[in-house]
Amino acid sequence: MTATLNLATAPGHQVLATAGKKILRPGGKKATEQLFAWTNFQPGETVLELAASFGESAIAIAKRFDVSVIGVEKNPDSVTKARENIKAAGLSERITIIEGDIFQLDKITDKFDYVLAEAILTMQSDIGKAKILGAIKNHLKPGGKFLSHEMVVRRNESQVHQSLSQTIRVNANPLTLTEWSTVCKKAGLTIQQQQTGEMGLLNLGQMVRDEGLFGTVKIIGNILNNSHLRQRVLQMRRSFHQQRNNIGYIVFTSSVVSH
Ligand SMILES: C[S@@+](CC[C@H](N)C(=O)[O-])C[C@H]1O[C@@H](n2cnc3c(N)ncnc32)[C@H](O)[C@@H]1O
Repeated sequence: MTATLNLATAPGHQVLATAGKKILRPGGKKATEQLFAWTNFQPGETVLELAASFGESAIAIAKRFDVSVIGVEKNPDSVTKARENIKAAGLSERITIIEGDIFQLDKITDKFDYVLAEAILTMQSDIGKAKILGAIKNHLKPGGKFLSHEMVVRRNESQVHQSLSQTIRVNANPLTLTEWSTVCKKAGLTIQQQQTGEMGLLNLGQMVRDEGLFGTVKIIGNILNNSHLRQRVLQMRRSFHQQRNNIGYIVFTSSVVSH
């Protein structure tokens, strides 16, 4: 177990996880479903998931499409929780969670039909994004696809970067549509399908869709009962609201550029 979280300084996703939020991506389950709809997973195919968190997406695809998943997650508490969730879903044979760093994907020698990464590239520097995308490309089988769910910025990039970094307390560095396409291209990946939409992580409607009514009530109760938690969550919510016309989610599929 990690040390007790300092809610004043912890990254936004850890704050939201402490509040009880399970789905920690900008477009929520709806956007993830769009990725799955484009993908046409076949039974027995393999998926590498980066930053698998509590195993939510890994469980969804293993259960519904009969694929095998290897998830990489750095936070030991999230790894424990993911393994518990996977066991409870009866999917231990199909999903393995590795406690590890996505900057060290060279430790994984297998290649996969798909690499899935949600809400992890946005918080990396330009160099970090390039490094991870290069490693993703190297872990795809011929014909394999990278499935991405991140944050997009539409305008006022420096204002967005400053506001999000202050409130999420990570290097939130969303890219424009063109920039996502360019970083992918530089890593040898070409975007095939894409969709953008509203940044709904802390919108009530998306929360109910993602966490269920009971889950949402529980999260709101936790936030109301803890002033430190409340302060951080409201700060993030305010920032997302202020920047609502400037930011959104993006989902895209991409494949290795063929020469
Ligand atoms: C914003 S959450 C997204 C979680 C999940 N993919 C989702 O969409 O709900 C980011 C996750 O990335 C994990 N993470 C951050 N840096 C990492 C790294 N270098 N290697 C592996 N996991 C990392 C965090 O522990 C956290 O679980």
